[in-house]
Amino acid sequence: MSMLRPISAILACVLGFSATSAWADGDPAAGRRVFVRCVACHQVNANGSHTVGPNLYRVVGRKAGTVAGYDFKSKLKGSDIIWTEDALEKFLANPKPLIEGTSMQTFPGLPVAKDREDLISYLKDAGK
Ligand code: HEC
Repeated sequence: MSMLRPISAILACVLGFSATSAWADGDPAAGRRVFVRCVACHQVNANGSHTVGPNLYRVVGRKAGTVAGYDFKSKLKGSDIIWTEDALEKFLANPKPLIEGTSMQTFPGLPVAKDREDLISYLKDAGK
């Protein structure tokens, strides 16, 4: 037993450390300000309904085009995309190829990498 304690202390330390560095990816408060560019079409809250676009509450980690109650029209519907942070990053840099034929095609995307990182942190944070 006496050997287990130091090991679990080290583990807790390592896990705690990696959680902190993942958190450091983006700034959710700055991301909230970036989200202003999305609010014409999206909400992100647990009780929020869909507006022009689907509600983005807990979108990080979800399968694309599957949120209940929204009628997807683009290639996202029936795609096998999972909205990992990487997939969202790529999508937000250049949404057009995936979103053609919907009102999001007028949205030019987020050209600045830091804006994308901050926004994704905000979406993760808002989904807790
Ligand atoms: C002009 C309206 C408009 C703007 C602005 C817009 N979107 Fe969208 N977005 C849409 C529409 C419409 C869809 C659904 C497309 C479909 O029907 O398949 C969508 C889909 C999405 C999806 C896929 C959701 C899912 O469940 O698969 C994500 C993620 C997304 N938008 C993120 C954003 C973010 C982040 C911004 C701002 C940086 C943004 N959008 C700006 C209209 C918009």
